[in-house]
Amino acid sequence: GMARKPIVGGNWKCNPATASSLDELVSNFDGCAQYLDKCDVYVCPSNLHVALVKDSFKPGIKVAPQNCNFTGCGAYTGEMSVDQIKDMGMSTVLIGHSERRGEFGLPTPKESNELMATKLQYILDQGLSCVFCIGEPLPIREKGVDAVLAECANQLEDIVPILKSLEDKSRVVIAYEPVWAIGTGVAATPEQAQETHKGIRDWIAKNVDQTTADEIRIQYGGSANAKNAPELSAFPDIDGFLVGGASLKPEIADIVAAIS
Ligand code: G3P
Repeated sequence: GMARKPIVGGNWKCNPATASSLDELVSNFDGCAQYLDKCDVYVCPSNLHVALVKDSFKPGIKVAPQNCNFTGCGAYTGEMSVDQIKDMGMSTVLIGHSERRGEFGLPTPKESNELMATKLQYILDQGLSCVFCIGEPLPIREKGVDAVLAECANQLEDIVPILKSLEDKSRVVIAYEPVWAIGTGVAATPEQAQETHKGIRDWIAKNVDQTTADEIRIQYGGSANAKNAPELSAFPDIDGFLVGGASLKPEIADIVAAIS
């Protein structure tokens, strides 16, 4: 494929339960540092733990909060603003995870496509980078790949103008995470993931432009692990992984090694 630098992220979600385990989780990433010239690496600690660990990783491993507000500081109880994230020296943030979009029916806020676009615009305006998550729930996957791509397009539609005007396409990474594969141990097959990534890239070529399609990185997320990473990452449109469960284990370094 094109010369896109692979990128692997670890999403710790709401883990670990005790701050005393943070040192161990951080040290699991030590083995990733040697691959940084070949693969970008970021970690998304829980909101409470971000400040505790943000300076603990080997240089070059980025810390990216799991969410952010859609505008600056002010009367937004429970939010974290991009301004605060930037001030604390972090340069990237994850948004739109399906667990925030409400796809799991969890008692989290339902975050709309429109809100995602507002957040992305604000993040980029502030000079930060962004990992933008998309993905379909099981009933849509069961309808077939056309329905899946229509849902992905639906989740991307509102950010088309933002992607069009973005000069440095490496500042936005799309994380394709089929909801049915998250935390289930059932990853998409490499063929399924490649087909979907390619479909997303073709849609971007058509609806944004060819440069964006060629340059934007699309990560795969959903039960990615050290075992399936080599086969998945061998496909041309899979530019890395967003890892949940396995990012809490030393295995994360093997995943980065597999793609480097
Ligand atoms: O954001 C990463 C995630 O949703 C995938 O989780 O545990 O299936 O790797 P997991």
